[in-house]
Amino acid sequence: MCGIVGYVGSKEIGTRLIEGLKRLEYRGYDSSGLSIIENKQIQHTKRVGRVKALDAALPKNYLKARTGICHTRWATHGDVTEKNAHPHISSDQRFALVHNGVIENYLQIKQFLESKNYTFASDTDSEAIVNLIAYHFEKELEAPDSNRFLESVRKALLHLEGTFGIAVISKDYPDEMICARRGSPLIIGVGKNEHLIASDVNALTHCTQNVVYLNDNEIVHLTAEDFSISTISKVSVNAVIQTVDWDTSDAELGDFQHFMEKEIFEQPAALKNGMRGRFSDDGSTAFFGGLNIQPQELSQIDRIIFIACGTAWHACLIAEYLIERFARIPVEVEYASEFRYRNAPLDKNSLVIAISQSGETIDSLSALKEAKRKGYKTLSINNSVGSSIARECDGGIYQHAGPEIGVASTKAFTSQVMLCAMLALYLGRLRNLSYTDGCNIVKALKGLPKLVEKTLESKDIIQKVAKKYAHYEDCLFLGRQLMFPIALEGALKLKEISYIHAEGYPAAEMKHGPIALISEKCPSVFLTTNGEMFQKSMANIKEIKARKGKVICIASQDCELPEDAIDDLIQVPEAHEIIQPILMSIPVQLLSYYIALERGCDVDKPRNLAKSVTVE
Ligand code: G6P
Repeated sequence: MCGIVGYVGSKEIGTRLIEGLKRLEYRGYDSSGLSIIENKQIQHTKRVGRVKALDAALPKNYLKARTGICHTRWATHGDVTEKNAHPHISSDQRFALVHNGVIENYLQIKQFLESKNYTFASDTDSEAIVNLIAYHFEKELEAPDSNRFLESVRKALLHLEGTFGIAVISKDYPDEMICARRGSPLIIGVGKNEHLIASDVNALTHCTQNVVYLNDNEIVHLTAEDFSISTISKVSVNAVIQTVDWDTSDAELGDFQHFMEKEIFEQPAALKNGMRGRFSDDGSTAFFGGLNIQPQELSQIDRIIFIACGTAWHACLIAEYLIERFARIPVEVEYASEFRYRNAPLDKNSLVIAISQSGETIDSLSALKEAKRKGYKTLSINNSVGSSIARECDGGIYQHAGPEIGVASTKAFTSQVMLCAMLALYLGRLRNLSYTDGCNIVKALKGLPKLVEKTLESKDIIQKVAKKYAHYEDCLFLGRQLMFPIALEGALKLKEISYIHAEGYPAAEMKHGPIALISEKCPSVFLTTNGEMFQKSMANIKEIKARKGKVICIASQDCELPEDAIDDLIQVPEAHEIIQPILMSIPVQLLSYYIALERGCDVDKPRNLAKSVTVE
């Protein structure tokens, strides 16, 4: 949600900041702005709309500056206007600030500052921070000049309730930048005679691979040559520099039209990366290096609670089916946003697992912290090395799917599902799953990337189907058992990028309400494999046809479908049931993608959405 990039160094900010900001646009994209310091004055430019509008509006001198901060916004407080876009400038014109997060007590702070004659130009909570810094700067007269900037930021932060990732520059300290975080990610990019700050590592890799992940309640003072970290309560912190293994090209489009398209087609590679080195030598199970829980302890677990949001929550639903089936451990799946406030009673041997692509979703992070606070073992499956969730839990499984930029999650989802399948296998083999069954599953998983490649070959057929159905305004997605979460995911994909009203249901539930929607105007996407539910699924399809509903059937190749039962067929290769949900995901992703394209939607930046939701 929102993106921050800041720079202080010996080079011109030039494309460094703007390129960084463009790489963050998927985080929020309703307005953007940039501040620099020139001739001891803060200058700023803001624009409503995309970063390219800001880029076009920037005066040439901006790009030659050597200190600057910029921001791309996803509005929380206040409309989408230039005055509400960041950076915000203190009313004494001394400081500029960019902020991610939400300040809960901003109204009290604002009232207090107004009583001291500070003025406010925006409706945002962020402006209260920058004026509070200015207020403390005035009060910090006794602090040595070299410390006054840092200390006034520190003092201001002590009064904030809520979450923040901030970067601040001051006209009186043109070669310095101060940044701090609480609940909103910030990463330092360590270069040669230059330092950057960003809310996402993506915005740094075009300048440096060396990064430091800030922890909550840390504040950092940066110059071109140096940086020092301390806690907001003044305890100094040793920086740990890590190397990012992402390639710059991972975050570039290459020959693809959209990141979503690129990421759909990257799935064979993403899946291969996720399973690499994670199968046992005897070929009967999986293992994970970073779980930090011994097998003996894991075999005592008698309940698993998965927590997640959005697409990751759908991956959890598949985990529920797979773990219960192959490992016979009871599983519950919770929306993180509900779990964190529900005060759910957990048993002694419960394990809590968070799934999150970004590792920064605030509800998932907070739910995880709540589980930890209660003393439960926590794990995570996530795609962002060093992310807040990865650092908060006791152990976990990295997805290694590469950066996902498209707002609609695709390769991250299938990689999460694959890792859940591998976890089900691992937990199953610690219990009653036989050697032979384990070997069969390993074989199926190893063959998965090839089968995904094969499924992707249906893209032309799927595009044709998409053309035919792109004008509908409603759509149902139906499936049973393992196909039910894919139905939910298909509906989510379609609604988020094409704005078609879509709902996913377990197919048998259709009769309890959704069937009322079925007519010539509401097609259904029906997902089925040739498993034990096949005949029942056929009965459900006939119920749709009897009501003049069109049926697009996504079926495994071994299904024998009565000709009059469906209007359009998309086939996926037949496979072991443990990998079938992944293969079925490919057509639903492509269908949504091509429908959105047909409707002229901005696929990578759907309206009102953001890639990573770091506010409640
Ligand atoms: C947002 C994104 C979704 C994502 C969800 C959870 O809503 O638009 O694509 O599934 O957040 O994100 P996470 O990073 O925790 O997986």
